[in-house]
Parts: sequence; structure tokens; C-alpha cells
Amino acid sequence: MKRSLLILFAILGMFFIGNSAISIIMSDTSKESFSREPVNTSVVMLQDIKIKLKKPEEVSINNKKVDLGQRLFFDPNLSKDGTVSCATCHKPDHGFADDKPVSLGVNGQKGDRNTPTVFNTSRLKLFFWDGRAMSLEEQALGPVENPVEMGETIKNVLSKLNKNESYTIQFEEVYGKGKITKETLANAIAEFEKTVISKDSDYDRFIAGDVMALSPNAKRGLDLFNGKAMCIACHSGPDFTDGEFHNLRLGDSDIGRGKITGMLEDIGKFKTPTLRDIANTAPYFHNGQIKTLEEAVAFDGIGEKNRDPLDLPVNLTKAEEKDLVEFLKSLSGR
Ligand code: HEC
Ligand code: HEC
Repeated sequence: MKRSLLILFAILGMFFIGNSAISIIMSDTSKESFSREPVNTSVVMLQDIKIKLKKPEEVSINNKKVDLGQRLFFDPNLSKDGTVSCATCHKPDHGFADDKPVSLGVNGQKGDRNTPTVFNTSRLKLFFWDGRAMSLEEQALGPVENPVEMGETIKNVLSKLNKNESYTIQFEEVYGKGKITKETLANAIAEFEKTVISKDSDYDRFIAGDVMALSPNAKRGLDLFNGKAMCIACHSGPDFTDGEFHNLRLGDSDIGRGKITGMLEDIGKFKTPTLRDIANTAPYFHNGQIKTLEEAVAFDGIGEKNRDPLDLPVNLTKAEEKDLVEFLKSLSGR
């Protein structure tokens, strides 16, 4: 009897000590995300791991839909003159982004924003630089009708697809009998996009326990990212984005989020982009004005007006900037 009481007390004791240890770690983390003190990497990693990473196999996937969506993603017939597919701008060999500052659509027309990656977009809450679309399905048909992208009407795309026997057979296999519709078209493309997930990177192997996966420079870069440079204030979570909008003061005429919400305070704000596969997706920022990762790391906006509260000025040495770049390079899939 006595012994079991003792064991009970021992267990209770462990529970309380354990709990307070956890709460110390937690309160430390939350304090540190607002301070400039270097953050202990292991604490931040704990925070990262808590947000569950969706593994490819956890996303519910219908393979036939994915094949159909993939065919559509690469099909230039979705555009007015049969020259531009989604993959023209979201180039698979360029991190599913474009190598130009702004992409060229039908008739060589220039868009006004840099093409972001399609990697991991199924995990986003809002789409486009200004967050104007709420789902992949809603997003998928936007480029088709955009006059400077694919310049085609959905009506024409549906009529082209419905006349193409190999498409009608493929759509029927997935969605049953009936005409190809706007909904089935968007759904198939979105289903393919769900499978465009960045692969195992050196950083992922490092947080999984392979301490050799990052070079000493990249490790210093990781500490800077979470600490002195405070990049994690906005580039947080498994995909290195808070999903929020911030004004980094690029100084162009694009008002970004402001156009969507109509709020004065949102003028010049853009969605924090993912940093996954960032080494493959140059040039950078919403207008593609930044050519290299070195420039991106050194960039600190134009003027002080409208500086984001999370975007505190940091004075990094040249060596620290190099370490940060090394860390950013470790976020690319292999
Ligand atoms: C002419 C180039 C071009 C074509 C073609 C194109 N896109 Fe895009 N895509 C862009 C640009 C530019 C943006 C960002 C636009 C903005 O934010 O206003 C974008 C944004 C996106 C996003 C949102 C990413 C994010 O981070 O929010 C997704 C998803 C996407 N495109 C998928 C597609 C699909 C699917 C197709 C084909 C149906 C397609 N795109 C065709 C240039 C293109
Ligand atoms: C205040 C929030 C915030 C902080 C802090 C921040 N970023 Fe960003 N970052 C953004 C936003 C928002 C953009 C897009 C801005 C735009 O295009 O107008 C961006 C863009 C980038 C890009 C270009 C990505 C692309 O696909 O075009 C890189 C690289 C980058 N940040 C790295 C960093 C690094 C490294 C740090 C730390 C030194 C950092 N950021 C700190 C919010 C932030």
C-alpha cells in the first residue's frame, strides 16, 4: 500500500516538474519571437515540429484525378492561341516558378507580378501575392481567363475539351458520365497541385536528427534566421510563411493587399512567400526585382515609411549574410 502511494506521488511529481519545464520552454519561445536576442535553435525547432508537416502520403489523393490534372497543367490548349500552359510560367525545372522577373503570357504580353512557386500551395490559406483567392479550385481558373496570361474564356476551354475524345474519356473515368464542367476542370487541376510538394531538403534531414546534414555555415545561418536576423517573425512554420501580409517597402506602384481589402493600412502589403526551394526560384519578391538570394538577404526596403512592426532593422555583417544564404540554400528539395 505504502509503496503504491509512493509510486503515485513519484508519478504526480514527474508530471508537475515536466509540465513546468514545458511551460518555461513555451514562454521563452513566445518572449523570444518579439525580442532580438539570439534564439536557441532547438527551442525554435520544437515550435516548428509542433505544426504538423503534411507528408505527401497524408494528402488524400486520387491518382486518376492527379494524372488528369497534370495533363491539364501542361496543356497549352487551355490558352487562347495554344501557346501557354500553366507550366510555361510555373516551370517544373525552376522550382515551379519562372526564371523571368514577370512571366510572358499569350502574344508575349508581360504580367505585372513575379510568378510564385506552386510547391506546397495546398497548405496555403490564401492564394496569390495579395491573397485574393481562397482555394486552389478558385485559383486554378483565374490564369485561364487572365488576358495577359492564357487569355482564354472558360467557355471556350470547356468546348475545346468536350470536343476532344481522349479528354472526355479521361474526365468520365474520374467524374462519371456527363459534360466536362468548370468545376471538374478546376478540381482536377487542384488535385494535381496537391501533389506538388517540395521534397526532402538538407534542412528537413537536419531537424530529423542528421546533424551533419547542414554545413557549419548553414547552421550559423539557421541560428541567425531564428535569432539576430529574426526572419522567423514572418517566415515561420514548416513552409516558412506566416500566411500573413507585410509591407517590405519595395517602392513600386503595386498596392497589393490594399486593393483586395480596401484598407489604407494594407497598401503595399504582400503575402509572405514560402522559402521552400527558394534557391531554385529566382528572381524574387512580388515584382521580381531582386535577382539573387544575396540581394534578398541584404535588402531592407526603401525609406522608413510604413515599416512593418515585425520588420526591425538588422545590421548583419557580410559573413552573417553569407551564412543566411547558405541556410536558405539548404531548404531546397533533392
Ligand atoms: C503567364 C504566366 C502564368 C500562367 C500561364 C499561369 N500562372 Fe499561376 N501565377 C502566375 C503569377 C504571375 C502568379 C501571381 C499572381 C498574383 O499574385 O497576382 C501566379 C499564381 C499562381 C498560384 C498561387 C501561388 C501562391 O503562392 O499564392 C497558383 C497555385 C498558380 N498560379 C497556379 C497556376 C495554374 C494551375 C495555372 C494554369 C491553369 C497557372 N498558374 C498559369 C503566372 C502564371
Ligand atoms: C516583416 C515580415 C518579414 C520578415 C521579418 C522577413 N521577411 Fe522575407 N519576405 C516577407 C514578405 C512579405 C516578402 C514578399 C515581399 C514582396 O514581394 O513585396 C518576403 C520575401 C522574401 C524573399 C523572396 C521570396 C520570393 O519567393 O520571392 C526571401 C528570400 C526572403 N523574404 C528572405 C528573408 C530573410 C532571409 C529574412 C531575414 C533576414 C526575411 N525574409 C525577413 C516577409 C518578411
